[in-house]
Amino acid sequence: MSARNRIEVMHGVNLDQLGRRPAAHYGNLTFEQLQFRIDGYGAELDLSLRFFQTNAEHEFVEHLHRLEGLADAIVMNPGAWTHYAWSIRDALEIAGLPTVEVHLSNVDAREEWRRLSVVRELCVATVSGQGVEGYRAALQRVKEELDG
Ligand code: DQA
Repeated sequence: MSARNRIEVMHGVNLDQLGRRPAAHYGNLTFEQLQFRIDGYGAELDLSLRFFQTNAEHEFVEHLHRLEGLADAIVMNPGAWTHYAWSIRDALEIAGLPTVEVHLSNVDAREEWRRLSVVRELCVATVSGQGVEGYRAALQRVKEELDG
């Protein structure tokens, strides 16, 4: 059997604006710098990463629909959609892939409305409040899941 190491790294709404968002929650990295760092973690872990970002909810949903046969697992930071976009929860269920949810900030220690995650029940783990390092933890977790 060929290696199961294809990880789809999906970012949702407003994550492309990193570098212009409150540094106290999200740090100083731009989105391009964040992706560069994640790419490095993927190489360390011998994972093959593909990146996707959109600010359009339907594109995020359709991307999930199209993952069959193209990815073995997902690392996902849906941004604010995390808290209310049930369409993304349902599309993730359709995708049926092991998924780790990541947030740069500690969503449970912020506003009340950020405590709800509509995707969490479908995810094998959630990593939150570890900044960019959280993506390393998420990729490690996904690798463990794939290695069984
Ligand atoms: C976020 C947390 C969300 O509440 C917020 O809407 C984001 C980013 C994070 O990475 O900490 O856009 O997902």
